[in-house]
Amino acid sequence: MDSLLIKGGSKLEGEVSVAGAKNACLPIFAATLLTDQKCVLKNVPDLSDVRFMAEIVAAMGAEVSNPSKGVWEIEAKKISHIAPYELVRKMRASICLLGPLTARLRKAEVSLPGGCVIGARPVDLHIKGLRALGCKVEIERGFICVDARKMRGSQVYLGGRFGSTVTGTANIVMAAVLAPGTTVIENAACEPEVADMCKMLSGMGAIIEGAGSPTVTITGVPKLGGTEHTVLPDRIEAGTWIAMAAAAKGKVLIKGALKKHLGSFLDILERAECPFEIKSPTSIYVDASNIKLKPVECTTLPYPGFPTDLQAQLGALMTQADGISVITERIYPERYMYVPELCRMGANIVREGPSAIISGKSKLSGAPVMASDLRASAALIIAALAAKGDTLVSRIYHLDRGYDSIDKKLAALGAKVERIKNAD
Ligand code: EPZ
Repeated sequence: MDSLLIKGGSKLEGEVSVAGAKNACLPIFAATLLTDQKCVLKNVPDLSDVRFMAEIVAAMGAEVSNPSKGVWEIEAKKISHIAPYELVRKMRASICLLGPLTARLRKAEVSLPGGCVIGARPVDLHIKGLRALGCKVEIERGFICVDARKMRGSQVYLGGRFGSTVTGTANIVMAAVLAPGTTVIENAACEPEVADMCKMLSGMGAIIEGAGSPTVTITGVPKLGGTEHTVLPDRIEAGTWIAMAAAAKGKVLIKGALKKHLGSFLDILERAECPFEIKSPTSIYVDASNIKLKPVECTTLPYPGFPTDLQAQLGALMTQADGISVITERIYPERYMYVPELCRMGANIVREGPSAIISGKSKLSGAPVMASDLRASAALIIAALAAKGDTLVSRIYHLDRGYDSIDKKLAALGAKVERIKNAD
C-alpha cells in the first residue's frame, strides 16, 4: 500500500482546479443503466471509486469505455438484475444500483452494503421508499431482493433520525422515473450531487420537478434515452483545498469552487476569520500568509448545512485556531477516526459524545500516521502541512478513493510531498 511523505512548513502558492464531484458520479454511473442508449459523461474525476463503479456496471452487462481523460461512455443494452456480491461488498455506494435495476428490469438483487469506519450505513429508508412505490422487497442471503412488477408512483417521506438520505433519494428518484404515475418525495436530500443526477435524468427524458429541494415530484415515463452530461465540480474537494491552503499559510486560487455550494462552510470560515475571498461565482482565493484563526462552534447537518464530509478537514484546521473550538457531528456521530492520529502529532482534541473539543493553537510535529477513511486522510494532510518536520501518512488508498491526484496538485503548488509506492 502507498504512503505520502509530507514535509511541513512549505508554503502553497498558485492555482488549483477542482475535479468533478465523486458523490455525483457514483449515482450518475448507476443512472446510465436506466436506458439502452449510450450515455456520455464528462468531467469525471480519475478516482478509484469511479473506476470501481465503472467495473460494476460493466460486470452487469453494460459496454463501458473511457476514450479520454474525464470522459466515460456507457451503453447498457442488456443488463443483469443481479449486482455481483464480490464487487458490491467493496463499495457502499453501489447501493445506487437498486433504483435503476428496479426501474429498468422490474426486479433487482443487490448485496446489502456493509458498514464502514465512519459508522453503520443502514438502508432502511431506501427499502421504505421502494415499498412505498409498491415494490416487494425482501432481505435474502445478504441481498436486497426487489420484485417491482406492481410498481407505480406514490408519495414517500425519506426523513430518518439523521435527516434525509443522499443515495436513498437518488435510488427512489431513479426508480420513480420509469414508474407509471406520479411520485412525490418529501424530505428528499437537497445535496447538489443529487440535483446534478436529476439534471442528467432530465436530459434522458425524465420528468422531475424540485430537484435539489426537499420536495421532488417525478412523473414516470415509459422509456429513457441516452444523453451527454458534464459532472459538476466537487464542493468537498473545494472545501478541502481551502483548509489546506489556510493550514499551509498559502496563497492559492481554487478554481471550480462554487460559492453557491459552499455557503455553510464559508460562513464557518468567516467566523474563524480565515482569509478567503470570493474571486468569482466559481473561484475562491485564499491568502493565508498572515492568518490568525479564531475558534468556532459548529454542527454538521444535511445540505445546505455544514457538510459532514468537511468535518474532519475543519477539525484539523481548528488545531491552529487560538482558543477552544467545538465541532458536533450529527450525521455520523462516530466520524472521528482522525482525532487520535492528530493527537499523535501534538493536537489537543477531546471527544465528548458526538462532539470534538479542539484546544488550539497546537504546535504540530510531523509523525507517522495512518489513514482510516477518505476524509480523515485529508485531515491528516492538512495537519501535516501545518506541522514542523516530516509526516508519513500510510494507507493512502483511502485518499485515492475520493481525491484525483491530490499529491500531484499539492506538489504543483510547492508542497514537499512524495508518494512512496508499496510502503507497507
Ligand atoms: C452520502 O452517503 C455520501 N456518499 C457520503 O459521502 C456523505 O457523507 C453522506 O451522503 C452524507 O452527506 C455518496 O454520496 C456516495 P446518507 P449516503 O444515506 O448516501 C442515515 C464521502 O466521504 N441513514 O445520506 O450513504 C445514515 O446512517 C462519503 O464522500 C439511515 O438512517 O449517506 C446517516 O447517518 C462518506 N437510513 C444519514 O442517514 C438509511 O436508509 C445520512 O446518510 C440511509 C441513511
